[in-house]
Amino acid sequence: MSRTGTALFVLLQDGRHVRIRPIAPGDLNALGAFFTALTPTARRLRFLAQVNEVPTDLLVNFSRVDHWSHVALVAEPCGSAGPLLIGEARYVRGPRAECAELALVVAEAWRRVGLGSALTRALLRSARAGGVRRLCGDALAENDAILCLMRSFGARWVPTADLRIVQLCVETGASFRPERPGRSPVSSPSRAIQRTSAGRTTSP
Ligand SMILES: CC(C)(COP(=O)(O)OP(=O)(O)OC[C@H]1O[C@@H](n2cnc3c(N)ncnc32)[C@H](O)[C@@H]1OP(=O)(O)O)[C@@H](O)C(=O)NCCC(=O)NCCS
Repeated sequence: MSRTGTALFVLLQDGRHVRIRPIAPGDLNALGAFFTALTPTARRLRFLAQVNEVPTDLLVNFSRVDHWSHVALVAEPCGSAGPLLIGEARYVRGPRAECAELALVVAEAWRRVGLGSALTRALLRSARAGGVRRLCGDALAENDAILCLMRSFGARWVPTADLRIVQLCVETGASFRPERPGRSPVSSPSRAIQRTSAGRTTSP
């Protein structure tokens, strides 16, 4: 693994190289194409609801992040000819700003070679640096992949009132800093959560 500026270069277990970097507004179309190319099952696991098409306003919200209250990373293959995203991971701070909601997804053709772990590691590092103490996220209880992945990062999970959903929480080891340096606190993080839900959507 190596680092250039804010980008991180990762050698996956199958020998392929990928780049992980913060999302940028110019990723809007590539992000839409990435979600569209996922199988319906992958989109359901990612959004906890059957989402056939991710709405444009959500894509805009997902790609225009402030990198503090809403942090999003994308993965792309090294040397790909055009814009191509193969993974995304994000967190959105909650009202207390020391906790954030996370979500991630990896393209099917890039799974089980360590990319989900690399994205999680990068997200945890970013959260720690930003003073987020705990990353939590809801997952479908049937989702062995995310449960096993998060367990490898020390996550605990608890049932929710909805028996189909469990909540995963992982400690980042950060010292909490309540405000973004040099900026006023987020005006309404809870609205940001409802709006973007780090990828969770309202039911269709
Ligand atoms: C969860 C997800 C991101 C994992 O991505 P990935 O790139 O395959 O993960 P990794 O290759 O880093 O796997 C790390 C570990 O997680 C576990 N894991 C991953 N996929 C698994 C699966 N299908 N079944 C059981 N364990 C799995 C394994 O312990 C794995 O280690 P191993 O390969 O050495 O056994 C991916 O399956 C995905 O995108 N799923 C759909 C979206 C989703 O469920 N998101 C979570 C809710 S927001």
